[in-house]
Amino acid sequence: MLILGIDTSCDDTSVAVVRNGTEVLSNIVSSQNVIHEKYGGIVPELACRKHLEIINFVTEKALKDAKVKFGDLDSIAVTRGPGLVGALLIGMMTAKSLAYVYNLPLLGINHLEAHIYANFLEFSSLRPPFVSLVISGGHTDLIYFHDFEQYKILGRTRDDAVGEAFDKVAKFLNLGYPGGPVIDRLSPKGDAGKIRFPRPFLGKSFDFSFSGLKTAVVNYVSSQKGNYSVADIAACFQQSVIEVLAKKAINAAKEMKVGKIVLGGGVSANSALRKYLKAEAAKNRIKTYFPGLSLCTDNAAMIACLGYYKMKKYYKNKKDRCFSLSQLDLNVEPNLKIEENFNFNET
Ligand code: KG4
Ligand code: ZN
Repeated sequence: MLILGIDTSCDDTSVAVVRNGTEVLSNIVSSQNVIHEKYGGIVPELACRKHLEIINFVTEKALKDAKVKFGDLDSIAVTRGPGLVGALLIGMMTAKSLAYVYNLPLLGINHLEAHIYANFLEFSSLRPPFVSLVISGGHTDLIYFHDFEQYKILGRTRDDAVGEAFDKVAKFLNLGYPGGPVIDRLSPKGDAGKIRFPRPFLGKSFDFSFSGLKTAVVNYVSSQKGNYSVADIAACFQQSVIEVLAKKAINAAKEMKVGKIVLGGGVSANSALRKYLKAEAAKNRIKTYFPGLSLCTDNAAMIACLGYYKMKKYYKNKKDRCFSLSQLDLNVEPNLKIEENFNFNET
């Protein structure tokens, strides 16, 4: 089954072709970082205009690189949310037009859910149940993934998303945008034990809170009167974040009695987190799964991958109401979340 994936949720325009949910034939990502970096964050209007300008070229390149034609496709999967409304609309309208012209089923995909599914592209033998940590620019979700499309939400951020905290701290330190990769690269040059920033664990809760940590960085800088090392601050901030993420993910896996933690979203590209979580989880006999770097950040292959699982389920049970095949009334949902749809008591 050949699926075309389209993602324009934020500032990357991405189109991919994936065969049978596992084989990535093409995965084109056109980044807009150069446009937004001078503003220190994403400017929605500029993001939309750029998506509109290049979506057709990116789509053509994805098909060309995959050596397939529109007529070879079995369906089109497009991000319906969450994201910037204007940006989402460009992908949605492109997908609808193609679905209409080529008479293909159209699948609306939850971008956050797709970040988890990136792991099925990377690890073909990975099977649920597992605990998943979705850490992106706008979301921090700790989820029990019971089975395909059966989730229990264990915790979420109460304020800033973890990627947002990286971006805001980097902006405050004049390190540029996006902040995560810069802090990741700079941290090894600093001493991660130099400053003891808070570890916001929030007791036994699986929720997260990163805004206090961000404020602690601001307070530290103003207390030092110019006498500080940016590399030390980056390293200590990052250390605090990764310890919180690792501890909560490991505790969640223990509580849910699963031996696997599956990461997804841009922040899972963080090299220190990958190393630290792997080592800490191993001490508890828990295996960690991180997508390859290009599948951590936004990409359309993960959208097509989740589309494949939806198509498979559709063919099994055509009455399932969560599918809207060829539904041209499908709309974008900028505030979409991962829905909790699994309850232990009902099993
Ligand atoms: O998943 P993603 O590409 O887009 C969203 O869905 O939001 O995540 C983007 C976020 C940004 O906040 C960026 O700073 C962060 O992921 N990020 C990183 C790294 N690479 C990207 N954060 C920490 N370390 C990285 N290496
Ligand atoms: Zn994302």
